[in-house]
Amino acid sequence: MRKTYLSAALGAGLLGMIASNAMAIGDGPIVTEHLDQADIVAGNLSFDEILRAGGHLFSAKFNLYDGQSRPGTTGGGAPRVPGSAPVFIRTSAPDANSCAGCHNDPFVGAAGDIVANVFVLAQTLDPVTQSVSAEFSNDRNTLGMHGGGPIEMLAREMTADLQSLRAQLQDAVAPNETGSVELISKGVHFGTLRVNANRTLDYSGVSGIDNDLIVKPFHQKGVVISMREFSNNAMNHHHGMQSIERFGNARTGSDDFDQDGVVDELSVGDITAVTLWQAALGTPGQVLPDNAEALRAVIRGERRFDQIGCADCHLPSLKLAGRDFVEPNPYNPLGNLQPGESESYSFDMTTDGFAPRLEATPDGGALVRAYTDLKRHNLCDDEIRHFCNEQVVQAGVSTELFLTRKLWDVGNTAPYGHRGDLTTITEAIEQHGGEARVSRDAFMALNQDGKDEVVEFLKSLQILAPGTESLVVDAKGRPLSADQVKAMKMAALRKQ
Ligand code: HEC
Ligand code: HEC
Repeated sequence: MRKTYLSAALGAGLLGMIASNAMAIGDGPIVTEHLDQADIVAGNLSFDEILRAGGHLFSAKFNLYDGQSRPGTTGGGAPRVPGSAPVFIRTSAPDANSCAGCHNDPFVGAAGDIVANVFVLAQTLDPVTQSVSAEFSNDRNTLGMHGGGPIEMLAREMTADLQSLRAQLQDAVAPNETGSVELISKGVHFGTLRVNANRTLDYSGVSGIDNDLIVKPFHQKGVVISMREFSNNAMNHHHGMQSIERFGNARTGSDDFDQDGVVDELSVGDITAVTLWQAALGTPGQVLPDNAEALRAVIRGERRFDQIGCADCHLPSLKLAGRDFVEPNPYNPLGNLQPGESESYSFDMTTDGFAPRLEATPDGGALVRAYTDLKRHNLCDDEIRHFCNEQVVQAGVSTELFLTRKLWDVGNTAPYGHRGDLTTITEAIEQHGGEARVSRDAFMALNQDGKDEVVEFLKSLQILAPGTESLVVDAKGRPLSADQVKAMKMAALRKQ
């Protein structure tokens, strides 16, 4: 069922000797079993077993027996002369022992303190030994993956809509004629796509998305398609742990592309497991304060959030047509498992995975209350430029553009902003310029109570304790039914 290919993995020499010892007692790999993708899709492993293995991969402090370090490759995955960079290096990485070393606040899999920031793109200049200046990398704060499964599925449904609108436009317009289509999916408007008389497409009116019309929901820049793609990147970048699907013999001509003496470090099944574990993390929810004044503020703040235009970008909910998380993602780029290479594996996000789970709708879909439109916006103008503090262009996207940040976990994932250099929610709002200027000015025009209400509402949106049985809880974390919530809110409003 499970493969232990450690002994085959380690060659002769010192490592090999220690490793054969390590199978019994003493030092050894932290990941002793590697999953076989065929076992996963055949159902030979239970969902619980897969999640347990995925969670272990996420929290494991990889060591030299696992294949931690990458003497022969950069964090960007390019070959380099072995020994030309230190084993650990805080800028271009390896920079951490485990994924959970950064993603752990308030629970494993979630966000991180500013000390867990990543110097994004330093890995392309790897090794960056001297400077964390903005010339060399983009200093970014750790995001939480709770709710990442629903987010990835929303992006897939939106991509399918947008690409089908493009195909319909191409079919509808006769030769030598021109035409256009409004790119709208789930109410989010990505601008206008035109077709020229010579059949070429004109993307100049398209906004907030790349010309491939793939909604990329990961990285605050919106440049990564799936959690699987992110995991393949991060395993190599942060830990020097290389996956077979990205770096194996079939793609690189070597079983040990990073030349650290350990071959085939992460199996296809391992990457599936760590991806499923992230996708199955609990859905963020809401904590209602027990004091009537604070609860009234939450109720009013939610209304104001909508009235002053915050909800134009931070959409309170998006509707998923399906409930399943399906692995692998059909839009995965080369070097990440693609549907043709394996049977798929799926689970229902409203009934399986870690509680609290996604909210089902009667029509077979689900509601994702993430407060984002999964679109990139520019929050800079002549006066407000805080969010234009980067210099290194990532994946061809202007340094001024960022995805509308999900707010469903904003209440317990301080600090704020893509760099994590803002300590309060109010500061983050004040720094909204550009496309959000009108809405930000409306916030600034509120009296102190009005501002505090918006903040109090945002503070109530939190990642709930693992295992919580409902998406709304009281201040002590006890589950609340829809009727109880209604009664609490009515009572608070009556008391004033
Ligand atoms: C050194 C800290 C650090 C480590 C270690 C780390 N991450 Fe991250 N992670 C980050 C930061 C910072 C971001 C936000 C990056 C950005 O926005 O550009 C992030 C973002 C992500 C995202 C995208 C979340 C989103 O909503 O956009 C995923 C998925 C992810 N990490 C998975 C992993 C996995 C899997 C591992 C281990 C293989 C890992 N990370 C290791 C700091 C880290
Ligand atoms: C034009 C779209 C847009 C509008 C309108 C908008 N936002 Fe944002 N918001 C964003 C983007 C994009 C980011 C990410 C900024 C960054 O870090 O680069 C963001 C980030 C945030 C953050 C930081 C969250 C975190 O965890 O770091 C908060 C809080 C926030 N917005 C609240 C609001 C409020 C309140 C309003 C209304 C006054 C509002 N936003 C209006 C697009 C928008």
